[in-house]
Amino acid sequence: MSNAIAYVSRDTDGLHWKKVLEDALGPLDFRTLKGGLGNTDDIEIAMAWKPDRGLLASFRNIRLIVSLGMGVDHLLTDDRLPDVPIVRIMDDGLVGQMSEYAIFWALRHHRDIDKYAELQRARTWKALDFVDTIHRRVGVLGLGVIGQDTARKFAALGFPTAGWSRTAKDLPGIETFHGQDGLAALLARSDILVNVLPLTRDTKGILDAGAFAALPKGAYLVNMARGGHVVDADLLAALDSGHLAGAALDVFNTEPLPADHPYWTHPRVHVTPHIAGATNPRTASPGIIENIRRLRAGQPLINTVDPKTGY
Ligand code: GLV
Repeated sequence: MSNAIAYVSRDTDGLHWKKVLEDALGPLDFRTLKGGLGNTDDIEIAMAWKPDRGLLASFRNIRLIVSLGMGVDHLLTDDRLPDVPIVRIMDDGLVGQMSEYAIFWALRHHRDIDKYAELQRARTWKALDFVDTIHRRVGVLGLGVIGQDTARKFAALGFPTAGWSRTAKDLPGIETFHGQDGLAALLARSDILVNVLPLTRDTKGILDAGAFAALPKGAYLVNMARGGHVVDADLLAALDSGHLAGAALDVFNTEPLPADHPYWTHPRVHVTPHIAGATNPRTASPGIIENIRRLRAGQPLINTVDPKTGY
C-alpha cells in the first residue's frame, strides 16, 4: 500500500509536522527530505515548499500535493509537476502575521519612527509635522484571504483603505477596484501600498516604473508577496529619485537576497528574509488533516488550487 506522506521542504526537518499530523491521524509513514524519502513509490501525498524541479514527478504513485505556502508559484513553476490535485494551506496564523508585518512597517513610516530615531541619536527633542491618519491612504494589492485581513485591519485603525483584485469584490468598509483601469486608480490614491498578490503570469513585474510613477509622491511600499512582482531597477530608480519615500521588502527576485544586492544597504529600504508570514503547523495543520481524511475517504478536497489562475 502506497500511503506515505513526504515532507518536501529544506526549511526544517519536518518532525513538528509529523507530530501534529499524527496527533490527529494516528501513526503515519512520514518521510522527510532531510531524513530520507526511501522508496518514493510509496508516497501518496507530498507536503511541499519549493521542491526541486521534477522531484514530485518522480513520485510515481502520488495522489495529492499540499502546498506548505499559501502562495503556490513555487509549485507551478515546475513544468514537470504531476497532474494530481493541488491544495494549499489556509493558515490563520500566517495570515495574522502578514497583516502585522504590513501594519508594523506602515505605522513606522506613518509615525516617522526612523526620523525620530535619527533625532534621538542627535539628542534632539523635536516634534515633526504629522500626517493625519484620515489623510494617509492605504492600498492593498490582492484581496484574497491575506489581503482582506490586512485591509480590514488598516481600515479599523482609521486609514482610508482600498484594495485591488483581478475580479470585482465587495468588502464592507473598503473601497475596491479591479482590472487594469482599477489598478491605475488604486495606485493614484495609495500613500502606502501593500502588495499581497499571488505571483502569476499576469502579475509578474506588475510593480514597474509605470506603477511607481502612478503612486503619489512620497508613497511607501510594503512588498510581502513575491519578489517577482517587482522590477528591481525600477524600484531603485523610484527610491533614488525621491518619488518613493521607502520600501519594506520581505521577498526578492532571488532568495536569499545576494550579498551584493543594493537593497541591503539602501538607506530607504528595509530588508527582511521572507518572514512576513511563516507557515505555522498549529494553524495550518487542520486544513491539511481535513484534506488527508477527504483524500482517503474519496471526498471532495478543500482549499484547492486552480493551476490556470495560479492560486
Ligand atoms: C509564503 O511565502 C507563502 O506562500 O505562504
